[in-house]
Amino acid sequence: LENGLARTPPMGWMSWTIFWCQIDCIKYPGKCINERMYKDMADRLVEDGYKDFGYNRVHIDDCWMEMKRDKTGTLIADRDRFPSGIQALSRYMHAKGILLGIYEDYGNKTCGGYPGSQYYLEKDANTFAEWEVDYLKLDGCYAEEDDMAIGYPAMSDFLKKTGRDIVYSCSWPAYLEDEPEKVDYNVIGKYCNLWRNYGDISAKWSSIQKIIDYYTENQDKLIPAAGPGRWHDPDMIVVGQNTVTPDQSRTQMSLWSIWSAPLIMSNDLRVIKPVYKKILQNSLVIAVDQDPLGIMGRMIFNNSDFAVYLKPITPVDTDKNLYSYAVVFFNRNTDRSSVVSIMYGQLGLNNPLGYFVQDLWENQYLGLKRSIDVYVATIPPTGVKMIKATLAHKFFIDTPTA
Ligand code: GLA
Ligand code: GLA
Repeated sequence: LENGLARTPPMGWMSWTIFWCQIDCIKYPGKCINERMYKDMADRLVEDGYKDFGYNRVHIDDCWMEMKRDKTGTLIADRDRFPSGIQALSRYMHAKGILLGIYEDYGNKTCGGYPGSQYYLEKDANTFAEWEVDYLKLDGCYAEEDDMAIGYPAMSDFLKKTGRDIVYSCSWPAYLEDEPEKVDYNVIGKYCNLWRNYGDISAKWSSIQKIIDYYTENQDKLIPAAGPGRWHDPDMIVVGQNTVTPDQSRTQMSLWSIWSAPLIMSNDLRVIKPVYKKILQNSLVIAVDQDPLGIMGRMIFNNSDFAVYLKPITPVDTDKNLYSYAVVFFNRNTDRSSVVSIMYGQLGLNNPLGYFVQDLWENQYLGLKRSIDVYVATIPPTGVKMIKATLAHKFFIDTPTA
């Protein structure tokens, strides 16, 4: 969507895959959907440095509302759990330089059963703008699939009419997963800044693996649709939940970055282990995700030991049509390590002057490499190696800084 927003993939934090629809704040204080919890996460983003790495959004997910609209048809945030209201919450965020996202559903009800926007799209767009909300995730539960091509664009127009900058995330194609012929990414990209394509993530390797398979299998259709202002959303980053190992966490961060995917964490930032915080705050990997070209990378090679994913990034020599690249070597086996031994030329890295190669997880400079040089590494099970190959160039011949 060309509304000037989300020129790089959005980054931040979202509640769903950690606190779900927990509304019992008596039994689960601190782990339920209420304003205190969202403020805590904004505080953590700022005080623990995440914001400096680009994570500048807090997203409310489902179950923030009361079961009924008020007499004028306006949505009401649950008065026990959000006693100050959403506008006060967005002001709290804005004072810290954090943007606030909210969740609704264009159908009859949200997935959690709360009032949907059907018949109220324009009213709700105006309400969110009045509340100074900066991002809307519009889900598609309890809706007719054939209405999606009307409902999602309609909300896009209503958001635009408010005059407020609101990033628009559509779950539209996720609900058409079984009817891919109905998914036209040219149309979706005209109306939405990002969109879910596939089922919900959970903090388990099997879930991450399924998502990787879906995006890999469908890459030829997906890649042309992505770019600044229009991103595929493979769902939240579950790094920081203890059910995902550090190796698997590096895999998720690496592949999401290869795809130029949103980096929206769902974890408890108040109790996160240092190993995960470090993975989430790897500025080299984040820079690949946020690369200004905004190209979605692809799998270029695959055997039973490992798969290789490649993403063109800056700096670029436009005259010669030469790119720099981020490369991920992924070992999908759960039971054994894999050894990679491959010539840079086999990856398509054929610049005669070579590339400055850097390992992004070890933060180690590997040297100037030409097409006949060989990259060798051992990848742990369900893990990755990730390198950046920066184009060597007559104006850019010095060792890049790590
Ligand atoms: C759907 C979405 C999830 C989450 C829930 C909330 O399942 O895909 O991301 O928003 O609804 O109910
Ligand atoms: C549930 C899931 C959603 C979506 C819908 C499809 O609500 O949580 O992610 O897959 O079903 O109907």
